[in-house]
Amino acid sequence: MIDVISNMPLVRAFCGIGHEHERFDATVNRELTARSRSLRYLEKLRLLHAAITVLLTIALMAWAITLWQKGQATTGDVVLVCTLGISILSATRDLAVALVDVTQHVARLTEAIATLLVPHELRDHPEAEPLVKSGAAIAFNNVTFGYPGGEKIFERFSLRLQPGQRVGLVGHSGGGKSTLFTLLQRFYDVDEGSVTIDGQDISKVTQLSLREAISVVPQDISLFHRSIRENIRYGRPNATDDEVLRAAIAARCDFVESLPDGLDTMVGDRGVKMSGGQRQRIAIARAFLKDAPILLLDEATAALDSESEEAIREALSRLMRGRTVIAIAHRLATLRNFDRVVVLRNGKIIEDGSPERLMQGHGPYRELVTREMSRLAQAAA
Ligand SMILES: Nc1ncnc2c1ncn2[C@@H]1O[C@H](COP(=O)(O)OP(=O)(O)OP(=O)(O)O)[C@@H](O)[C@H]1O
Ligand SMILES: [Mg+2]
Repeated sequence: MIDVISNMPLVRAFCGIGHEHERFDATVNRELTARSRSLRYLEKLRLLHAAITVLLTIALMAWAITLWQKGQATTGDVVLVCTLGISILSATRDLAVALVDVTQHVARLTEAIATLLVPHELRDHPEAEPLVKSGAAIAFNNVTFGYPGGEKIFERFSLRLQPGQRVGLVGHSGGGKSTLFTLLQRFYDVDEGSVTIDGQDISKVTQLSLREAISVVPQDISLFHRSIRENIRYGRPNATDDEVLRAAIAARCDFVESLPDGLDTMVGDRGVKMSGGQRQRIAIARAFLKDAPILLLDEATAALDSESEEAIREALSRLMRGRTVIAIAHRLATLRNFDRVVVLRNGKIIEDGSPERLMQGHGPYRELVTREMSRLAQAAA
């Protein structure tokens, strides 16, 4: 249900309501059938128990009366045996019901425990120490990684970034660019090799200190169902209103002025009330506010028109000063002023160098840029 409700626009756009109803009915039916089967078993059990109880009671009474008729038992014995027998037998019914309840609760508990008590996969190393930030040099050393249950995306991948370097990451869709970001933030541990920041292995530093050092504008931006102000302030919870406002201005969130509640406008679930470009600008403002030595931009300006992109690029280049930056971009023009461009293909670096140098060569980067330019020229014509 959660899946369907959160994808409601998709369901409507593709006329999927009927189909979703069927799916939902099927799920409910499966549950209903299982329940009724379980109830039927229980009822059968109860009937069997009742029949056995009746039989045993009759047998007991008959035996006692026979003994009494033969004079081997007194009237008192008969009465005692009958009442004791009947109460013991009826108590077994309560016992049986309780046992059934116990098995049901045990089953429920086992399922709940299996779901709730999954151990955290990523724990801090027992001797983890806070990351000591000096210049934010980043290194991937012979990293091998594949998502759990998936193919290897990187095999013996190495990349070194000098502190303060601005690096553009270019490559085919699905080539593993965003995955490099998740590895650097240690959302997954590498299978082999290591990732280091200023020479410290990120799996040996506390996760809190690691993420404090990194500011991200992700590819798919999610916002909290809170006000724009709170969403921006998430970058640094103790920032003053003035600082939040300055970050919003730097990220060109000028659309805020036309909203009735300004910065206090609620953004809707996951930000549905904002346009893609507006969400992106809020995320950039959040990164501005965080002020961390490492800045990761994943298609940070992809949803913007060229005018706001130009304006934000200016603000971004101010933000990039003195930080180590990795920016993923499909629009290569964004990487013009970068110190270095790395071209990835199938998890391998196929080209690496300053944009000017790569443009002088005849490698894939130059090819990509030429293609982009001719496309733009065609579009303009
Ligand atoms: N959370 C995940 N679980 C499993 N596989 C994933 C996950 N995220 C990405 N992948 C897989 O990893 C590969 C690399 O994905 P990644 O997101 O790094 O690509 P990308 O280079 O950022 O592409 P794009 O330019 O389209 O954003 C893809 O084949 C994708 O299917
Ligand atoms: Mg990506």
